[in-house]
Amino acid sequence: MSQAVIINDVYKKFGKPSTFSWKRMFKPKANGNGTKNGNDKKTDVIAVDNVSFVIREGEIFGVLGPNGSGKSTLIRLMSTLLLPDSGDMKVFGHDVVKESFAVQKIINRVSVDASFFKKLSPMENLMYGARLYGMASGETKKRIVEILTRLGLEKHTIYQPMEKMSRGMQQKVAIARALLSKPKVLLLDEPTTGLDPRSKREVQAVVEELRDKHGVTMLLTTHDMVEADVLCDRVAILDKGKVVAMDTPESLKKLVHNNNGHETSLEDVFMELTGRQLKEEEE
Ligand SMILES: Nc1ncnc2c1ncn2[C@@H]1O[C@H](COP(=O)(O)OP(=O)(O)OP(=O)(O)O)[C@@H](O)[C@H]1O
Ligand SMILES: [Mg+2]
Repeated sequence: MSQAVIINDVYKKFGKPSTFSWKRMFKPKANGNGTKNGNDKKTDVIAVDNVSFVIREGEIFGVLGPNGSGKSTLIRLMSTLLLPDSGDMKVFGHDVVKESFAVQKIINRVSVDASFFKKLSPMENLMYGARLYGMASGETKKRIVEILTRLGLEKHTIYQPMEKMSRGMQQKVAIARALLSKPKVLLLDEPTTGLDPRSKREVQAVVEELRDKHGVTMLLTTHDMVEADVLCDRVAILDKGKVVAMDTPESLKKLVHNNNGHETSLEDVFMELTGRQLKEEEE
């Protein structure tokens, strides 16, 4: 199996916005104080801390981690929306920073808070998206109907305002929009968060079908450990921006023993491997 995505030692920090100060403007920058980039301030948030992994072609790769552990930042870095401070990322051989245009052509993202023109229909929203990709309209309309019906949207809903649709249906439209550009790699940021169990299963089925029938390589984040266990071929667990474990769900479960008499779940693994620093700080 070939390597679809290579993430190599990627590091990203965010500076806290502060008020402007002339004094600080002319103060020489601190350097060589042992931190990665020499001038990490206490107020800086290290969102992604030297993360490395490889996603194989056709695999569903899960990224799990507590709130604020850097999952969405990683996705935004991979989709060229943010620049890393250091490290490099490759998507099917293309450098995400140096060849961002080539990467944008083969990667797409479904954000956790996908936004639409709610008064417009899925068709109108997707046509708008298609225009941004410079797609010809005649053929595109046919393709939109094809994708939406493949994702299980009933024909009549394709032309009704988005605001009348359930969140599950809207999420499918978000996935459909991402599929318009025929991405080889799809980044799914919490695609099932906030969905009822039935909608959740429908979206999960779509994700599985994309892998099994269409060979799409996917990175998926979720807070649903059962979902990660069922869907993901391999999983990386992030904690405070660092990868603390990476393997198949099966192998990860073998790492951890629980005392509750039940079989170890991915949730047990999550509880064991994340929030350690917090526990230490409390002690
Ligand atoms: N644009 C930004 N400016 C400043 N800080 C940011 C920005 N985006 C993210 N952060 C910070 O980076 C850290 C990682 O955030 P991120 O959104 O990647 O976490 P996450 O794992 O996706 O969390 P969640 O599970 O809540 O979605 C957090 O501390 C967050 O506050
Ligand atoms: Mg997030």
